[in-house]
Amino acid sequence: MSKQRLTIAVQKSGRLSKESIKLLSACGVKFNMHEARLMVHSTSHPIDLLRVRDDDIPGLVMDGVVDLGLVGENVLEEESLEREMKQQSNQFRSLRRLDFGHCRLSIALPTEQNFNGIADLEGLKIATTYPRLLERYLKDQGVKAKPVMLTGSVEVAPRAGLANAVCDLVSTGATLEANGLREQQVIFRSQVQLIQRAEALDPSKQQMMDKLLARIDGVQLAKE
Ligand code: PRP
Ligand code: ZN
Ligand code: MG
Repeated sequence: MSKQRLTIAVQKSGRLSKESIKLLSACGVKFNMHEARLMVHSTSHPIDLLRVRDDDIPGLVMDGVVDLGLVGENVLEEESLEREMKQQSNQFRSLRRLDFGHCRLSIALPTEQNFNGIADLEGLKIATTYPRLLERYLKDQGVKAKPVMLTGSVEVAPRAGLANAVCDLVSTGATLEANGLREQQVIFRSQVQLIQRAEALDPSKQQMMDKLLARIDGVQLAKE
């Protein structure tokens, strides 16, 4: 990507999109947003936004395709574990934890199902978009269960007969409730992080980065 312009990957549409743009706006970085555009140039700073699926953001930063990313720790940790297993590079710099995008990754079962503890998961199929985080948790707990990878609509898996349980993100809990599921065990807590690629930025970009970071700190402080 551009040598002169700082590139930031943000979620195109979803729980983090609005807050991500709001944060940058509060920092004085202005954009002419076009819903359909993947790439948006700032009208006030040499900054470009790359609008992608949140799941793609950690990889883009780890591969050095973009300079920065605003991303949930859930997808960040999942991608790190995945790359570690495949012995691919998973390096990045963690700059700030930000005060939005709070959610938890939880195991949930059909409401009518009895649950007395993690041991009850033994032998079950658990639908999830986070197989590595789930595997790590099950291993720590000494429980053998089978993650079933689904990239979306995880909450319908038990009713569709694809799995016995789910391991999915919970924010308000509305999705689980609407699908007859009850949250039983939190396995990971997440919020948004600002991350930077591992390889150093060139000096002009680093200077801009330092300014942006100072403004982000100011915005975060003002919120407290
Ligand atoms: C998560 C999760 C549920 C929803 C839960 O999706 O997969 O669909 O949020 O939120 P609730 O408890 O408030 O109902 P997310 O927004 O991360 O979108 P994605 O799965 O498309 O990445
Ligand atoms: Zn996602
Ligand atoms: Mg979802």
